[in-house]
Amino acid sequence: MRIEAQDITREFGSTRAVDRASFVIERPMMIGVIGSSGAGKSTLLRMINRLTDASAGRLVVDGRDMLALRGREKRAWQAECAMIFQQFNLVPRLDVVSNVLHGLLNKRGMASALFNMWSRADIDRAVQILDRLGIAEQAVKRAEALSGGQQQRVAIARALMQDPRIILADEPIASLDPMNAQVVMDTLRRIHDEDGRTVIANLHTLDTARRYCDRVIGMRKGRIVFDGVPEQLTTGVARDIYGAGIGFTEATTSTAIETERARNADYAARLMAD
Ligand SMILES: Nc1ncnc2c1ncn2[C@@H]1O[C@H](COP(=O)(O)OP(=O)(O)O)[C@@H](O)[C@H]1O
Ligand SMILES: [Mg+2]
Repeated sequence: MRIEAQDITREFGSTRAVDRASFVIERPMMIGVIGSSGAGKSTLLRMINRLTDASAGRLVVDGRDMLALRGREKRAWQAECAMIFQQFNLVPRLDVVSNVLHGLLNKRGMASALFNMWSRADIDRAVQILDRLGIAEQAVKRAEALSGGQQQRVAIARALMQDPRIILADEPIASLDPMNAQVVMDTLRRIHDEDGRTVIANLHTLDTARRYCDRVIGMRKGRIVFDGVPEQLTTGVARDIYGAGIGFTEATTSTAIETERARNADYAARLMAD
């Protein structure tokens, strides 16, 4: 699958949330989108899967402009690019496996969900996906009873239920503690590695993008100002992306994942030294 964004633009009144964004994805990869708050990251993802309409531009996938699709074809495209959100967007009082089955709404229709009538095969598949993500034993619990990290994995399971070619994740770890953040990022990476699905994740921290992604897109004020491999993402480049002046340090854009890892490694080293 070849994905080409050509000058995708979105205006809200006089604000250009995304300003002529162009990029090409030639093969499945894991891409991190970074940039300060308000840079246009969410709007870009939302335009890709048509949650937000673009003001201009094209998204050409296998020769077709996905931004021009209507009705059934638009829904078919939305099923191909599943979305994951910072706040998980599960139905809190509903059990986990039903939440996962909601990934089939596009294909099976609303009635299945309303009457909670799913085929045996669909339910088996939902449980298999939960098992793959290490949370099968939570299947009958209410979603709200799970930890944040587990809830995000349920959201990933719901996305996988759609069998999408692309997974779009909007700040998937921004509400999680370091340990859970790591589990969720490892899960997204695994889905890319094992299934060959393209993952595009908006990430609020540099180190996560560097560590997990094959490619990083940097946005500033609606524009793509960097597009390259993590090795090219020097501190100077990062400063450009974040538009930070004096006082910018990597620490201001770091999650605690690395800190936590360092602490664990340190602790392990001390244990061994004893
Ligand atoms: N629905 C909306 N209505 C008006 N302005 C919006 C809307 N969504 C986003 N914006 C504006 O577009 C810009 C980019 O926002 P967003 O895509 O959410 O950035 P990010 O995800 O990088 O924080 C911001 O200036 C934001 O205020
Ligand atoms: Mg955002």
